[in-house]
Amino acid sequence: MLFPLGAGFCIQTSLLSRYFNLVACSTATLNQWEDNMVTKEEILAAFKFRHACKQFDPEKKISDQDFNFILETGRLSPSSFGFEPWRFLVIQNPALREKLRAVTWGAQGQLPTASHFLAILCRKGDMRFDSDYIGHFMRDVQKLPEEAVQKKSSFYRKFQESDFRLLETPRALFDWGCKQAYIALGNMMTAAAMIGIDSCPIEGFDLAEAESVLADAGVLNTASDGLAVMAAFGYRIKPQPAKTRQAMDEVVIWVR
Ligand SMILES: Cc1cc2nc3c(=O)[nH]c(=O)nc-3n(C[C@H](O)[C@H](O)[C@H](O)COP(=O)(O)O)c2cc1C
Repeated sequence: MLFPLGAGFCIQTSLLSRYFNLVACSTATLNQWEDNMVTKEEILAAFKFRHACKQFDPEKKISDQDFNFILETGRLSPSSFGFEPWRFLVIQNPALREKLRAVTWGAQGQLPTASHFLAILCRKGDMRFDSDYIGHFMRDVQKLPEEAVQKKSSFYRKFQESDFRLLETPRALFDWGCKQAYIALGNMMTAAAMIGIDSCPIEGFDLAEAESVLADAGVLNTASDGLAVMAAFGYRIKPQPAKTRQAMDEVVIWVR
């Protein structure tokens, strides 16, 4: 275990059990939540531990429990209007990974070595205000009463048509879904780091070719979904390089 806080294993197990405790009692009071809170030091240590891992130890596999935890943080991620544009495709098939590798210059070391390889798909036309999916989502997932469905729907329509002009091209709508997919991606990578698991976000691929590899494998329907971004998860085989970042005052502008 390479967690940088020294007592890494303890931190991993205690974070995981705290997480499952909280899930088990989702009605936790504020006091219970405070008792389970992670410290700022633990969080920053995880951010420093996370790096874009280029090659994983092929012998080390993430447990089902840990990978389900990572997926759960993706599933619980926020999305615009709560409409969850994503689907998480976990690609464990070596032959499919090899086919993807041919069109993914950014994951040459990661695709063959990652314990788990994730492709985040995003819905396309389904995200329109007038789609069956959005109607089903408001009624069956969000369980809104009919009056609220009508109100939310007209609000969503205005947002898509004029506020953000998302309906001018199919690509604008798809890219808006992809923006949200990146929130889930970030959450999953941070969550992984918090339990000592390495990751790498992957955007280094030819989009059309990668989509056609997934479509040929029967795991992507390009009529309804597209590929937003991918990510590899596993355990590093080499020490991580030094982190480079601009200074805080170069990236933060305060308006008082
Ligand atoms: C959206 C996105 C796509 C990325 N795509 C790749 C990729 O295809 N291959 C790769 O090795 N790294 C990729 N990276 C990793 C970045 O190069 C890396 O995060 C950046 O250089 C900062 O380094 P650090 O993550 O190690 O702190 C990507 C990062 C992001 C956020």
